[in-house]
Amino acid sequence: MSPLITVCRDCCCGTVKKHPTVDHGRQLTRLREIAARHGGTVRVAECLDTCETSNVVVVQVKGAKPVWLGFVLDDTVLDDIDAWLAAGGPGTDLPATLALNRVAPAGTR
Ligand code: FES
Repeated sequence: MSPLITVCRDCCCGTVKKHPTVDHGRQLTRLREIAARHGGTVRVAECLDTCETSNVVVVQVKGAKPVWLGFVLDDTVLDDIDAWLAAGGPGTDLPATLALNRVAPAGTR
């Protein structure tokens, strides 16, 4: 499957100023571990223009539409991403809990 997980880190996503209670470094480490477990990689991106939904993560696999997730602020969301990738990831149904984090890609709202 080789997922690519794009993790936004810029003016809002990943900042203590906007999300002081989140360990953003640990979150990035965990996302790298999750991607690797599923044969994929993480790319850190500059602002994805959806700051109001920070932290933003985009999950992609070849042949499926990228899925944009917002408000990625606690470990349970990371656990849900991990479980979803194990079940097939993008191109399969988004679990109900993770569907709550789905946001529209920049430029489509
Ligand atoms: S900093 Fe992540 S969407 Fe702007």
